[in-house]
Amino acid sequence: MKKRSLALFLVATLSMGTLIGCGDSDKSGDSNASGSSSESTENNKKGDKIKIGATIYKYDDNFMSYLRRGIEKAVKSKDVDLIINDSQNDQAKQLEQIDTMIAKGVNVLAINLVDPKAAPSVIEKAKQNDLPVVFFNKEPDENVMKSYDKVWYVGTDSKESGVIQGKLMIDDWKANPEWDKNGDGKVQYVMLKGEPGHPDAEARTQYSVEEFKNAGIDTEELAIDTGMWDAAKATEKMDAWVSKSGEAIELVICNNDGMALGALSSIEKAGYNIPIYGVDAIPEVLEKIKADKIAGSVLNDSKGQAEAVVNLAVNVANGKDPLEGTESKLDDKKAVRVPYVGINKANVNIAEETYK
Ligand code: GAL
Ligand code: CA
Repeated sequence: MKKRSLALFLVATLSMGTLIGCGDSDKSGDSNASGSSSESTENNKKGDKIKIGATIYKYDDNFMSYLRRGIEKAVKSKDVDLIINDSQNDQAKQLEQIDTMIAKGVNVLAINLVDPKAAPSVIEKAKQNDLPVVFFNKEPDENVMKSYDKVWYVGTDSKESGVIQGKLMIDDWKANPEWDKNGDGKVQYVMLKGEPGHPDAEARTQYSVEEFKNAGIDTEELAIDTGMWDAAKATEKMDAWVSKSGEAIELVICNNDGMALGALSSIEKAGYNIPIYGVDAIPEVLEKIKADKIAGSVLNDSKGQAEAVVNLAVNVANGKDPLEGTESKLDDKKAVRVPYVGINKANVNIAEETYK
């Protein structure tokens, strides 16, 4: 596509997000995620570069911004082009973006759904065009994954993050008897939950607390609400909780780091010092862990997930085995699951490594 026709095209599709390194002449945006222009891949007979059409459910999400950068980085070592769009938390918009990418001739879709329930609509579009699909971060239902032979998933085992977060908290709770401020032997906690219905949010909420039970430690939930993965929303909730029962809160459990940062700013403002735990281990939180402001997090390996998405997408676009050239494994749900790692002050460097 020529530059001028692309410009018109972009005007006509204002809803599109960033377009990166697509084709030879139509580069727009400031980053070029095109891979090296060495020889074309074996199974790509026409000699055209593989084009990956990707979406992120919203760029304005702490963790997803790292996963997105990971994808842009991972394509650089491959001979591929990447179109990547911000779906701005709007499922209808994402479906339009997918139509546009298909019209532009992508060879494979890499989709971070806005709403996991929309997976069948994406699969329908892919089927009509005989395109493979790699979903990531928001896992479709098992029956949907079984409805198409060219669909795969890259993510994590959600339960694992809750269990690891629980274990980190229990170790610290045992090592710091003064954390039991009212001395009743119970953990009075508040919970900031991610998006309701999201497998990660549900599993982290359940299994983090279940670990205390498994360890024989009683808990009491003082408050729970969703902060929708978002720092500002978490601050709002936390402001209300600290003003109501700040003295009584002994622990703040957050389904992700964005909300942990939001909770921290509220707690600092109110002048309290309450242990806070998150999940993701994003760089902003690693700094807070080093400064003793956040007690711990769980590494959600954005680099590992991004590499798995790109490797899988390129392999299937080339008609190869999805795992060729990788050390990944597929489980019975056609998913590659990247392991979580518990992070606290003692091993922050492990998480830092993944952002280099
Ligand atoms: C989770 C992550 C959250 C948020 C969410 C979006 O895995 O921990 O911070 O990014 O994905 O789907
Ligand atoms: Ca207590």
